[in-house]
Amino acid sequence: MTLAAFREPSYKPAMPLIAPSILAADLGRLAEEVRNVEAAGADWIHIDIMDGHFVPNLTMGPDIVRAVRRVTSLPLDVHLMVTNPLAMIEPFAIAGADYLSVHIEVVDDVEGAFRLIESFGKKPALVINPDTPVEAVSPYVSRAAMILVMSVYPGFAGQKFIPEVLPKLEALRDLKARCGSSCLLEIDGGIKTSNTATVVRAGADVIVAGSGVFATPDYRATIAEMKSTT
Ligand code: DX5
Ligand code: ZN
Repeated sequence: MTLAAFREPSYKPAMPLIAPSILAADLGRLAEEVRNVEAAGADWIHIDIMDGHFVPNLTMGPDIVRAVRRVTSLPLDVHLMVTNPLAMIEPFAIAGADYLSVHIEVVDDVEGAFRLIESFGKKPALVINPDTPVEAVSPYVSRAAMILVMSVYPGFAGQKFIPEVLPKLEALRDLKARCGSSCLLEIDGGIKTSNTATVVRAGADVIVAGSGVFATPDYRATIAEMKSTT
């Protein structure tokens, strides 16, 4: 799926979408890794931004997003794990993000954050950590372009999936159906081919997979297996 198709008002992708997280890629060969997952059938590229404060790790800045933007036509899904996401929206929007995800744990004025993201023509998403109750994000199911349910504590790729978050995904899926919302539900953390079916059944439309894709020998086979899950 190309960026042009993504921007069409009639854009209705086949679910689940697969968004490989470049945090788990070989960063010394980043351009090649991005091209390889695109050629292997990835739908989006997920980019993890960490500030060493909201989470105990430091990763990428707008220059990396700009570099990835140059090598792929896929939508860029930028996950802001930072204490002050409002200050980061403009630089990441200008760098080429398509989705900008902010954590509910650090945003008081969600509507204000969404408007700021939309002022740059980008799609606003809200993220919820494993220990935050679903009620924190459920009021936004009709407003957000996407809600991202974390299935690990954010900070690192390669952690173990936390199954206790599944009821949150199910609650959001049911709420979405009740209000006829087109909000996408995304899951991030510890997703492999072995648990994709479980999270899709629970309501996931978009699968983020770091090591679940990049630590496998055949990206095409892995992504095809994840996408064929029902
Ligand atoms: C975790 C990040 C994830 C991470 C996923 O803090 O938000 O996107 O890269 O990596 P895996 O799929 O290996 O858990
Ligand atoms: Zn992420």
